[in-house]
Amino acid sequence: TTPLKTLASRVGKYFGCEIGQEALSDTQLTALTAAQCSVTTPENEMKWDATEPSQGVFTFTAGDAIVSFAAANGISVRGHNLVWGSQLPSWVTNTAWTNATLIAAMTNHITNVVTHYKGKVIHWDVVNEPFNGDGSYASDVFYNTIGSEYIPIALKAARAADPNVKLFINDYNLDYSSAKLTAMVNLVKSLHARGIPIDGIGSESHLIVGNVSPSGYASTIAQMAGAFPGALVAITELDLRMPTPASAANLAQQETDYYSVVSACVQYSACIGVETWGISDKYSWISSTFSGYGAALPYDANFNPKSAVTGIVNGFASG
Ligand code: G3I
Repeated sequence: TTPLKTLASRVGKYFGCEIGQEALSDTQLTALTAAQCSVTTPENEMKWDATEPSQGVFTFTAGDAIVSFAAANGISVRGHNLVWGSQLPSWVTNTAWTNATLIAAMTNHITNVVTHYKGKVIHWDVVNEPFNGDGSYASDVFYNTIGSEYIPIALKAARAADPNVKLFINDYNLDYSSAKLTAMVNLVKSLHARGIPIDGIGSESHLIVGNVSPSGYASTIAQMAGAFPGALVAITELDLRMPTPASAANLAQQETDYYSVVSACVQYSACIGVETWGISDKYSWISSTFSGYGAALPYDANFNPKSAVTGIVNGFASG
């Protein structure tokens, strides 16, 4: 059967799937990833706690391993992520920063990581999950110390270190019209109007089977694409969880929901691709975070395609 990445490229999109260090040593998983996916994202290996565990000490071994795997298999890499209130090393959360010292530390982090991966990643999620559900800014060390200006400062530092990589702000729960979606669109609109480097919005799309409105989801892509002319939208972390063990009815609904998301992306030239957060149910963050839920990815834990794969196939074929 035709690989998902090929079906995607026929309609001008990519199909990607995240991979983590643990999965990288599973040859069945790497073979499936290489066969189906033209883009990947390191699950945790490029985050701040992984790349700068002590101030000024940079460790790229784990991220480099994923970049090497990708390069050996013709896969492009999305860098994830530079500035986020989670997965920070304790020195970032524990230092008594001033505005100036945190800007310097953040800029140094971005400069070093982006420079190391210059030419090796196609995108950076420069800022990850900046908003609360009500559209206010998340309370984290960056916002609390620098204010919302940490976002343009981070984007400018990333652009200075790599003039060619595409720069994203990435968040979850952008899958329906909400205060959070409006806040994200307005932020990107205002950044662009100020001349701050920004290429697009990453919509994570961690979804629940049965909760996807096809027209509602498509409308979110239109709203994000409307932030400014040429704004890109990337579906960055798609998964569709259900109660486990998976029922036949939920697996069938999952096919429909994967179709809804992929076909919505296909409708908009601004939507450049769809990436799932993993590819096999053997490796997924879901069950450890949402007790009693799982089965969220297109392939089962034995690497067999679920009917979700048919939903993705038909979604790309809808173009
Ligand atoms: O590395 C430590 C290990 O040393 C320790 O023994 C072990 C014990 O719990 O924990 C390990 O760290 C875990 C890490 O994954 C690496 O496996 C953390 O506990 C665990 O919280 C962390 O979870 C990651 C999560 O981000 C953290 O926020 C998930 O793997 C990763 O899939 C998830 O990815 C995020 C995206 O970055 C942003 N969007 C949401 C998405 C899902 O939460």
